[in-house]
Amino acid sequence: MNEVIRAIKERRSIRRFKPDMPKREDIDAIIEAGLYAASGKGRQSPIIIDVSDPALRAKISRDNCRIGGWQEGFDPFYGAPVVLAVLADKECPTYIYDGSLVIGNMMLAAHSLGLGSIWIHRAKQEFETDEYKKMLESWGVKGNYEGIGHCATGFIDCEIPEAAPRREGRVFRGFMPRRFSIRPATPDDLDAIAAVEAECFPEAEAATREQFASRLEHYASHFWLMFDGGKLIAFVDGMVSDEPDLSDEMYAHPEMHNESGKWQMIFGVNTIPEYRRKGYAGQLIMRAIEDSRNQGRKGVVLTCKAELVNWYAKFGFVNEGVSESVHGGAVWYQMRLSF
Ligand SMILES: Cc1cc2nc3c(=O)[nH]c(=O)nc-3n(C[C@H](O)[C@H](O)[C@H](O)COP(=O)(O)O)c2cc1C
Repeated sequence: MNEVIRAIKERRSIRRFKPDMPKREDIDAIIEAGLYAASGKGRQSPIIIDVSDPALRAKISRDNCRIGGWQEGFDPFYGAPVVLAVLADKECPTYIYDGSLVIGNMMLAAHSLGLGSIWIHRAKQEFETDEYKKMLESWGVKGNYEGIGHCATGFIDCEIPEAAPRREGRVFRGFMPRRFSIRPATPDDLDAIAAVEAECFPEAEAATREQFASRLEHYASHFWLMFDGGKLIAFVDGMVSDEPDLSDEMYAHPEMHNESGKWQMIFGVNTIPEYRRKGYAGQLIMRAIEDSRNQGRKGVVLTCKAELVNWYAKFGFVNEGVSESVHGGAVWYQMRLSF
């Protein structure tokens, strides 16, 4: 365990201090650690009042005791000779958090120097009074400050208490609901794939069940299937080839697939109607691109109709003009994404 984490774990609130004053340089080091605390937007709004003057310390102790409702004579600072009061500017939206962190830093710094420390509350009530406001004024503090807390510190005069066991169940692992998943195909996916294809394309353009059976036989791992739970909602597929251009032959002849080929072809991006315009097809395309890149291909090639040219361009595909394909009697544009 590194020394910072060890200090964080070993620091304890100390409730009995020796009256001896710690070295000035140690007190200053503690204060400086407070000044280095993070603050919202880096505004550094908190200020620290160094109360090592015995008369002032005794007065604040009396007031704090009264505010806390204890019997007169009880010292809420447990005999600590140094009280570092932290105030923060109420005009700053993060003032309470900023001030709290200053106290946290100072307690850790004190611990690292072998001194004890404790957060003592009720600075808010003290510094709300006219008397304390006047004191602030007399020290040159201008602004709308609120007391956040005190870091009392000094030499430890007791056994260091054991840390309370950490309460269970306070850490929650955040994750996105795993409703949607993407995976390659297996022969068992044939019916679902053929059904989605039939829903997505006119008969002239749709691949048949038999064609898909053959594609799955040759390149099931070049299908990207997206499921909503157990339901296939979209897929992308295409063979891999050393041929740079996508030809109609490729649709009909899955045996042309060359597992070590340079170009990943994309034959179609099919999303069933009720899942369209939600970004799922884009996720599939991005996954196909990512996998092809990871497999060391030169790039991805597809053909699409004119209305989809701009959509594919968003993923980095470049339009190479009208393709030789006459697939389904339509006009197709060839687009290429080169890695
Ligand atoms: C916001 C805050 C206010 C606290 N106020 C007091 C206080 O007024 N008096 C006191 O004895 N301890 C006070 N403590 C110290 C806590 O009681 C102490 O941190 C807690 O019991 C856990 O012990 P540990 O600091 O040793 O881990 C305060 C702590 C925090 C964070």
